[in-house]
Amino acid sequence: MSNLPPDMDPLETLSNAIADAPGVVAGAETLDGLDRIESELLGKDSPVGQVRAGMGRLGTDLKPKVGAKLNEATSRIRELVEARRAELEVIEEVRRLQSETIDVTLESVRFPTGSLHLVQQTIDEVVDIFVGLGYKVVEGPEAELAYYNFDALNTPATHPSRWEQDTMYLDWGAPQDEVLLRTHTSPVQARWMQSHDPPVYVVVPGRCYRKDTIDATHLPVFYQIEGLAVDENIQFSDLKGTLLHFAREFFGPQSEVRLRPSFFPFTEPSAELDVSCFACDGGVPGCRVCRGAGWLELLGCGMVDPFVLETAGYDPGKVSGFAFGMGPERIAMARHGIDSLRHFIENDIRFLSQF
Ligand code: PHE
Repeated sequence: MSNLPPDMDPLETLSNAIADAPGVVAGAETLDGLDRIESELLGKDSPVGQVRAGMGRLGTDLKPKVGAKLNEATSRIRELVEARRAELEVIEEVRRLQSETIDVTLESVRFPTGSLHLVQQTIDEVVDIFVGLGYKVVEGPEAELAYYNFDALNTPATHPSRWEQDTMYLDWGAPQDEVLLRTHTSPVQARWMQSHDPPVYVVVPGRCYRKDTIDATHLPVFYQIEGLAVDENIQFSDLKGTLLHFAREFFGPQSEVRLRPSFFPFTEPSAELDVSCFACDGGVPGCRVCRGAGWLELLGCGMVDPFVLETAGYDPGKVSGFAFGMGPERIAMARHGIDSLRHFIENDIRFLSQF
């Protein structure tokens, strides 16, 4: 606003300001714009501001009248500004809400999340069952010393499983600490007992290697879950009870299982736990899953051989134990009616996405 001409009548100036104010204030479209207009109407350089500044120079006759008019103009303009501010606040809020509206009916972008491989899911589930019984989960190395894979497990140098035909040896180290790809998870039994006092209740999931040709029931790289319990007074009935509990938890109460005498160098006595074949329902000759046996071999087990306890530094006169080793691929096959181990390694999404 320009400075007032010196001859301007202050009362007229204030009347004009009062008369013009409604139109000017109504022209404010935003809160920022209203702030600017407010200072144009009431600020130092505004006509009202100029009258305010000139009050001291007025004669005593004019002063009360102009003073009263000045108050009237100031409060009138303030009222108008505050009323418009309230309106603009509502308008701006509505504008903001409209610009931020989300259309919840719009199709979202989907990111395929994938899932764990069935073998891993099976391992997790089996391990959970044993954790529920108080077992601890431990692991060991895949590149293992022959000592732990064989010697500490009562498997003498002449045992056929040690032949190169069955075991993959690594070209590392000196002959006395021969290194191989572990053929089972049992070496972790020896490692754990060597470094921990009884009682022991552990499950050991992990990858194992054998020189096997791929077919429906063999893979050269496969998984095992080892179990080991060593405590005072552990008996074969504890082994049986534990494995029956596992079978019922995993396969449901309707499954048939059987314990069959077997042999492992590191358990005595030894047994195999079988579950009835899902594919042929019992002994159809030529069944490609059970090969006519009617049963699927799920795991090997037995009472820990006193030699193994002693080698690990335990006293077989004080403690006894049982051990078992199962193949998660095999139990997943039995559970889901999968007819070949090949499905686990082919990475066919049509197979994998079913689980
Ligand atoms: N390690 C044996 C195997 O690979 C399984 C087993 C584990 C047997 C523990 C008895 C006790 O076949």
